Amino acid sequence: MTEYILPHVVAHEEERLARLARMLDPQLRLRLQQLGVGPGWKCLELGAGNGSISEWLAGQVGPEGEVVVSDIDTKFIDRLADAGLDVRRIDATRDPLGEGYDLICGRAFLHHIPQRRDVLARIRDALRPGGFVLVEEPDFHSVFAEENLAMRAFWEGFVAWAANQSIDYFVGRRLGLWLTELGFEAVDLRGETILSEGGSAISAFWKLTFEELSGPILASGMVAQADFDEAMRLFDTPGHWNWQCSFLIAAGQKPAS
Ligand SMILES: C[S@@+](CC[C@H](N)C(=O)[O-])C[C@H]1O[C@@H](n2cnc3c(N)ncnc32)[C@H](O)[C@@H]1O
Repeated sequence: MTEYILPHVVAHEEERLARLARMLDPQLRLRLQQLGVGPGWKCLELGAGNGSISEWLAGQVGPEGEVVVSDIDTKFIDRLADAGLDVRRIDATRDPLGEGYDLICGRAFLHHIPQRRDVLARIRDALRPGGFVLVEEPDFHSVFAEENLAMRAFWEGFVAWAANQSIDYFVGRRLGLWLTELGFEAVDLRGETILSEGGSAISAFWKLTFEELSGPILASGMVAQADFDEAMRLFDTPGHWNWQCSFLIAAGQKPAS
């Protein structure tokens, strides 16, 4: 099994995934609508987390469509079987994905996976001719706009620490080239950057993420304790607007023949 730094057994992970979904679902739903997802489509979501996007997709494709919702750990998506979704445990790097999909989507999972470009090739092979891929991933360029020196030092140390764990926090920008190289057509890459005020629900998501990771981050010595403490304080401070990473969405269509 691929190593994953924030497995579902970590305390508060269900809450963290719910906060992530609330933050990012509106943009992803909009892009899925722009692709034309609708009645009768056969869809697969990889690395689905709490499955909020698949739940929404099921409403779009209707009873004549099909939604396979998957994750390497199905703990937070098992409940969706009762709603008629096809719940599967899929390691995107090696388990069979199925075939003939109109759409395969996933968010915030490729940056954790060293074989991330190979996963895109696997997605291409599992789509029907003319089917669509849509993946959303972070690109942390925007956090370096931070003007508070302690917070900026925190981000620099965190991103460096992540790179040592084989996490690519700049994967967002690479998706367009990879999809083109893999033969996708009509490739599009765009996204959003959300700034969040200290004390807001979004800042709380980031604070929770770093609190879950605080042990290994601080033990690495790549983030100083004082910078970590100041960053956590700013995530709680009304009036301080926190930069966060950009989330970029790449879409492409498998050639019809
Ligand atoms: C940051 S969470 C994102 C969850 C959800 N996609 C979202 O954006 O709300 C990453 C997810 O990828 C899953 N994951 C990690 N490695 C995976 C792999 N090799 N194959 C499939 N899923 C994986 C994790 O279990 C987790 O649910």
